[in-house]
Amino acid sequence: MKSEIAEREWKLMEQTLKEVSKFALGPDLAEIGIRKGGTTQKIIKCLESMSCEYFFYGVDIDKRSSDFWKGSERAKLIIGSSCDAAELIPDGSLSWCLIDADHSYKAVCADIDAYLPKMDGNSFLLFHDTGLWDNIWFDIYAQFGVLKALQDKAGMLRSAGFRPYLYSEQRLKPERERAEHGIIIYKRG
Ligand SMILES: C[S@@+](CC[C@H](N)C(=O)[O-])C[C@H]1O[C@@H](n2cnc3c(N)ncnc32)[C@H](O)[C@@H]1O
Repeated sequence: MKSEIAEREWKLMEQTLKEVSKFALGPDLAEIGIRKGGTTQKIIKCLESMSCEYFFYGVDIDKRSSDFWKGSERAKLIIGSSCDAAELIPDGSLSWCLIDADHSYKAVCADIDAYLPKMDGNSFLLFHDTGLWDNIWFDIYAQFGVLKALQDKAGMLRSAGFRPYLYSEQRLKPERERAEHGIIIYKRG
């Protein structure tokens, strides 16, 4: 299913990117589920505009995902399942991680289990397509389990020091393509 990061959601993401760009050693970041790399390009452009030292992991199970950063010394594309890819990322290394892959309940729970240990003491954990609130979207979101996974993993996230920080509700827009699908951003530290 097509699911773009909407402008208002991007603004929230950008805010957190500005915060991590100030980290002394430069952040390690990951986007889990990149599809064609539309959001990836925005993330990298934003980091470059802040002259930020960073290292970016893009993860997708689909080989057709973009390879526009091929050859970059600051980015690595990992083709594989999100959980397998997590094994290639050092524990405690990520300052910023967007989870936007398989949106089923089971998969999101598995992604939380896999990526929580990867997160640094000061970090942001972002989840896209959390929207479940609006009945008009029910046909689309019935298959999504992001919000339920976050509810069931709330204790685990809290124990790890993550607190809800920013969110954007899903909203219906005239052009469905540009609808906001809901982002919830957690902050640790
Ligand atoms: C909603 S799209 C990602 C959108 C992207 N973040 C953006 O903003 O443009 C979901 C992506 O997750 C990938 N995906 C689905 N299941 C996955 C899994 N188990 N592991 C890794 N990637 C997965 C799909 O191939 C798809 O490209």
